[in-house]
Amino acid sequence: MVVLRHLSQASGHAGAAHRSGPGERPVHASHRYRSADMELEAAIRTRRTHKVFGAEPVDPVLVRELVELATWAPNHHLTRPWRFRLLGPSARQRLEAVAGDGAAKLRRAPTLVAVSALSTPEDPVRSQEDLLATGAAIYALLLAAHDRGLAAYWRTPDLLRRPEGCAALEIPATETVVGLVYLGPLRQPAAPPDRGPVEDVLISLD
Ligand SMILES: Cc1cc2nc3c(=O)[nH]c(=O)nc-3n(C[C@H](O)[C@H](O)[C@H](O)COP(=O)(O)O)c2cc1C
Repeated sequence: MVVLRHLSQASGHAGAAHRSGPGERPVHASHRYRSADMELEAAIRTRRTHKVFGAEPVDPVLVRELVELATWAPNHHLTRPWRFRLLGPSARQRLEAVAGDGAAKLRRAPTLVAVSALSTPEDPVRSQEDLLATGAAIYALLLAAHDRGLAAYWRTPDLLRRPEGCAALEIPATETVVGLVYLGPLRQPAAPPDRGPVEDVLISLD
């Protein structure tokens, strides 16, 4: 699926072609930033949580590409709070060894990336913002994986809230795990869960 590839081109073009100056009529936002080949909306709507994966690991070069894209997430003060750990065979073994009954679930995907945020207890506002930024980075990573036809799953296993899980992945106490991202070849479609009416969540204030 080709959805996000032309984002940078498209936004550059839109900025140059449609920027309105004094005396110009304002351009409606939905036209201003839209390009024929930028199907961001489709990517957002069709990305799914997948729990079934093909066996072939994702090329580390591609993982690097996804992580690099993820770092374009918004980040207050540009603290770069995120850490992405691509799990190799030894790290996976160590994690499975402390997972008990949960080990089988860890084997569902050929590629695992543990994502954490640096925490700064002395500055709770920064800690919160950094956590949110890391969540946004994970979402960017999921969308980028979807764009490349991969299946992905954002998991928050209890194990990575515990010291033994973090120790297995060499995650220090100064970081908070935000997700264990499963990645791998797409094997089957996943049904979209109902999102409910937007009226339930959109509150218009006078
Ligand atoms: C912060 C976060 C944590 C999640 N943790 C889990 C998890 O531990 N187990 C799980 O089955 N799904 C987890 N999910 C995935 C959600 O269940 C999933 O996004 C939701 O069902 C909507 O499905 P969709 O992603 O296909 O739209 C998590 C999602 C987020 C954003």
